[in-house]
Formats: sequence, structure tokens, C-alpha cells
Amino acid sequence: MNLWIKNGHLLDPANGRDEICDIWIQDGKVAILGSLSSDKQAEVTGENTRIIDAAGKYVMPGFLDLHVHLREPGFEYKETIKTGTAAAAKGGFTAVCPMPNTSPATDSPEMIQKVLAIAERDSKIHVYPVGAVTKGQAGEEMTDISGMVKAGAKAISEDGKSVMDAELYRNAMKEAKKAGIPVLAHCEDKNMVGKGAMNAGKKAEELGIQGITNAVEDVIVARDILLAKETGARLHLCHCSTKDSVAMIELAKKDGVEVSGEVCPHHFSMTEEEIPADDANYKMNPPLRSSTDVETLRRGLSEGIMEAISTDHAPHGEEEKKKSIAEAPFGIVGSETAYALAVTYLVRKGYLTPMQLVERMSTNPCRILGVPGGNLAVGMPADITIADMDSEYVIDKNTFVSKGKNTPFHGVKVQGRVHYTMVDGEVVYEYKE
Ligand code: DOR
Ligand code: ZN
Ligand code: ZN
Repeated sequence: MNLWIKNGHLLDPANGRDEICDIWIQDGKVAILGSLSSDKQAEVTGENTRIIDAAGKYVMPGFLDLHVHLREPGFEYKETIKTGTAAAAKGGFTAVCPMPNTSPATDSPEMIQKVLAIAERDSKIHVYPVGAVTKGQAGEEMTDISGMVKAGAKAISEDGKSVMDAELYRNAMKEAKKAGIPVLAHCEDKNMVGKGAMNAGKKAEELGIQGITNAVEDVIVARDILLAKETGARLHLCHCSTKDSVAMIELAKKDGVEVSGEVCPHHFSMTEEEIPADDANYKMNPPLRSSTDVETLRRGLSEGIMEAISTDHAPHGEEEKKKSIAEAPFGIVGSETAYALAVTYLVRKGYLTPMQLVERMSTNPCRILGVPGGNLAVGMPADITIADMDSEYVIDKNTFVSKGKNTPFHGVKVQGRVHYTMVDGEVVYEYKE
């Protein structure tokens, strides 16, 4: 099936295109950009061509989510590769990076192969698995990093926790550099966090819940930047939530360190003050922070210090999230709300232009991971997201295709809707009213 996307507004920062034009897709690739000649129009309106009217919508290179938890194997009651990738497709993502904190952990070439085999069967979008840094994520013994990369891992990460042994982590960074992959870092000092369950501050005191200070993140961000500087590894800092993370990334970049940082939609959309009660749908790690942190994250994204928007999509069971903030697991879902939150809180508020949004959700993530995508030049795979930035609606968790309904954004009014997601020229998600 060929596709003719008509009258859409192409946003392709990699090629500097910001214009209304048609796109013709043949054999899964971008074949023609611009207006089609009448001969070509006659040819493409044949039987084997689907016409998509994209008037009033943006046509963008497909989004890549550098940070999701698909929970399979081991926690299929929370999510599966099938449901998690369907949720991502609905969110406009044509590719995702599942983190290794599954059960067993994704910590060997065999486990990488297993995730890829399930994805091959169950996913309509690209799945780029992330291998663990240590066996069983126990923090003691390094995994077979080059073996995992040969099996298809695109990065390593110990997400869910930090590797507290700096010497071990330094060696892992050297291995990652040799293998040509980035290290995706979850920054949290295990010894400092204690029983902390939300941001340390007035709100935590009010609710009588133990706090997580900014330094819990910042000391590991500093350490990891120094390790990357020494080893030359490519370091990508996950879910940055503090103003000093932004400041340190800016400084490290000026110093020539190969570092990038991501911000999650919840961290740029909501402050700790908006937590209404002891409700675990507002619990994630790192936690919602102060308004000063949120403003700095937005500025960081605006200025390009922070290069990526990733979700940290972390589905959990309903019963688990009914517990108190102190007791419930960390994490909220994010795949199906990321785009609208980015439009509402960043584009509409003037922090990002539509082109910059595409850079943060597609172009830069593809570059950081070193995978194809993030650009729609002729000849490129037709991984495409078509969405608007003005549809207004209220987020309803009951419409989520993810198994996880754990979101603090239920009932929040947003702007921006994904209409189509395409992978290799196949429509893998289509919005129907
Ligand atoms: O909120 C979080 N949820 N943060 C993490 O680091 C782990 C994740 C999860 O796996 O649920
Ligand atoms: Zn994490
Ligand atoms: Zn995570």
C-alpha cells in the first residue's frame, strides 16, 4: 500500500522544512516531497494508494521515546510489549526504548533476543531494547555489554536505580564507548534517598511523608558527568528534575563532555504544590519538584540544553497505586499524554516552537540513540506522526490503551491530538472520533 499525505504542514528540523506540502510514500519510504504533478497524481490515485487528508495538521518525523517500561517479561499484569507499544503508537511514538528492570532483568544477550522476539511478534512500532549495566541489576557484576549490543541492545542503563559503585560504572562506560552505544543514567543516590517518597518540602511536611531532596539526584548527575568526561562515554541523563541538573549539563557541554539530558512531561507540566492529597498517582521517581525547578526545566528545553522529551512511562496495577504515597510503587504512565502535555505546557506557553518540539521528541532522540529516523528526506523510512496542536479535550484515563491508568493528569484539559502514526509507511494508529 502506498500513501499520499495531502496538504499537511511538514515540520522537519533536520532538513529545515517548515511548509505545507504533499508527501508520497512508496514501499515504506518517503518517495516525493512537494506538490505532485498531475501525471503523478493520476498515477498515485490508483488502487493501491491510500489518501490521507492532513490539512490543518502537522506532519512530523515519528517520535522516539528513549525511556519506557514495558514490564515484559515478569510483570505482564502491569503492561506487556503488546499493550505498551500500542499505547506508544497512540501517543505518536514510532519507536521506544524499553528499560531493563523486567523480571528477569534484561541483562544478557539472550534476554535482549527474547525482548526483540516478543516485539517482532507483538509490536507495530520499533523496539530498541536497553540492556542492564549489572547482572540482575544487583549492582555487583557487569553484564556482557558487547554481547548485548551484538544481540540488538541500543543502550545500557540501570534504570530504576543508580549503579552506586563508581568504579564498576566507570568500567561499564568504557565498555559502552567501545561498543558505540550511549549510557542512559538514572541519577539517584541510594544512600541519601532513605524512605523518601516525594519532593522534600512544605508539601511533604504537610502530608507527613518523607522527602527526597534535590541533592539525591544532583550528586549522581555530577558524578556521572565526571565519569563520562574521563571515559569519553556518551552519557544521557534520564528524567532530569532539578535546576542544578540543568546547570550541570550546561556546564558539562561547554566543557566538551558528550552529555545529553531528557525531561519527562510530568516534570515540566506539574509542580509538587499541585499534589492535592496523599494520592500515589502523583508518585514517581524522581518526584514532582518545586516551581523553580519546573521553570528551569522549561527554560532548559527551550534553550536546547535539554535535548529530549521522554516519558518514563511506568505502568502499575490499580491495587498497587491505591496505596498511600509512602507505600505505593514509584511511576506514572506517560505514552498517551506526552504529546498533548508538550503542546500545552511548552508550545502554548511559548517555550518551544512547533519545530523545536519535533527536535525534542524525534530528531534529537534518534541522534542520541544512533538509530535511523528523526528526518523525512526523500528515501528515508516513512516513520511519521500526524497531529494537530489545537484540538482541545480533557484527558480521560479510561480511554488509555495502556494497562496502566496511573496518571495525575486525568481530568486535565489539554491541547494537541495525534491523528495518525505510521511505521515504514504502514498506519499503526489512527484516531477515530
Ligand atoms: O517512577 C519511576 N518508575 N522511576 C523509576 O526509576 C522506575 C520506574 C518504574 O520502573 O516503575
Ligand atoms: Zn529512572
Ligand atoms: Zn524509568
